[in-house]
Amino acid sequence: MKEIVPAPPPVVRNDVAAVQKLFQQHVVPSYGRFEIVLSHGSGSYVYDVTGKRYLDLGSGIAVSALGHAHPAITEALVDQSRKLIHASNFYFHEPQGRLAQALAGLLGPGKCFFCNSGGEANEGLFKLARKFGHEEGRFEVISTLNSFHGRTLAGIAATGQEKVRKGFEPMVPGFRQVPYNDLAAVENAISPTTAAVLIEGIQGEGGVSPARPDYLLGLRRLCDEKKLLLLMDGVQDGHFRTGRFQSFQRILESTDLAGPDLPVATAETCLGGGSSPRSFLPDAISMAKSLGGGFPIGAIWVRGPYADLLSAGSHGSTYGGSPLACAVALKVLEVVQREKLADNARQIGEYLKAGLARLAQTYPQVVRSARGLGLMLGIELAPDIQTLPVDPSRTPAVRFAQLLHAAGVLTIPAGVQVLRLLPPLNLSRGEAEEGLAVMETVASKLAS
Ligand SMILES: Cc1ncc(COP(=O)(O)O)c(C=O)c1O
Repeated sequence: MKEIVPAPPPVVRNDVAAVQKLFQQHVVPSYGRFEIVLSHGSGSYVYDVTGKRYLDLGSGIAVSALGHAHPAITEALVDQSRKLIHASNFYFHEPQGRLAQALAGLLGPGKCFFCNSGGEANEGLFKLARKFGHEEGRFEVISTLNSFHGRTLAGIAATGQEKVRKGFEPMVPGFRQVPYNDLAAVENAISPTTAAVLIEGIQGEGGVSPARPDYLLGLRRLCDEKKLLLLMDGVQDGHFRTGRFQSFQRILESTDLAGPDLPVATAETCLGGGSSPRSFLPDAISMAKSLGGGFPIGAIWVRGPYADLLSAGSHGSTYGGSPLACAVALKVLEVVQREKLADNARQIGEYLKAGLARLAQTYPQVVRSARGLGLMLGIELAPDIQTLPVDPSRTPAVRFAQLLHAAGVLTIPAGVQVLRLLPPLNLSRGEAEEGLAVMETVASKLAS
């Protein structure tokens, strides 16, 4: 019988050039890619097609929360795919309901909407803000400079970085940016059309900059006073990466500014859907990345009073909250709980950060500083780091990442001068030591 769709021509296995040629010829070149052609992974390591092993301290930009090929994820995928992979949101199914219960249990009284990515989750936040302000003609969202909120048209309008917008003007109206960690700037920017304020608890793409506790609490007060929604983009910094479910919980625990009623939910309390008193909560949070541990899923959680604003017919997604995606996300939560990965993120994060701070002390001509919380860390390279031997047309962050690749470690550049470490939440102490040793070798060579 004649084949209607021809089978793709075979790729010569382990041929880097052949795979790259396929991309050059057939894949839209919207990404600047490193030369590496990946093949498979196991735990905190990935392997390229030549067999070279890398310690993965980027986990696919904070996605592979349990590392690579975790058996629990494979098992959840196989088990659920035998029962029901997809169901239209015309119908109910248990995994979506249980996942919404678990996420609300970690945050507070409210409801969830499911989608497939961080950008899509933020679209949900924008639509929520518009619905919230609609009757009063309010629609504007104030976000922050250096933020990142995804690549959709509204996402780039919300993002406070010119480079993501270039060539896509005119921007979707209704977005304005003010400096981060500057409460007065938000207050001054509020207009009669403002409906919401949107921030990341830790700016990720912007270079790993955490919000200050007084900024978070001040924003909450301001939004209450001015009847605005406080929206948080937890796509990158969420899901226990900082040692708490959301970064604001971690940021606020270190201060007494929030009073005695700090958010106390942990992975241990979430699966039963339990809640506890909280003095600080945003009105809605977007999530994605680690939520599915590598399987695409996004979500928003909306606080109680606003949870029904997106009423029947007002928002949707064909794939959003599929049984398969939700079963995997539930499994990720279960493993985080069982293996106490929030604590691990906190402890290994502190160990890594101390090691990076030592690097900055020992090699100030290479590393300027280390910052971040838990397993969301940024290494700021020295401003005058000019001695990098690889490709001078690339940014210092990219060139440093390339040197680390050669030495067998993956990291994620952020902006011009910062490298991010966003490793799996189950990174071991030995793996952290190995990563630090490699970074030290690279830094010492550059310094000499
Ligand atoms: C804070 C933040 N928001 C939104 C996004 C967009 O997520 P996605 O790429 O899944 O659309 C990202 C992606 O890096 C992000 O870091």
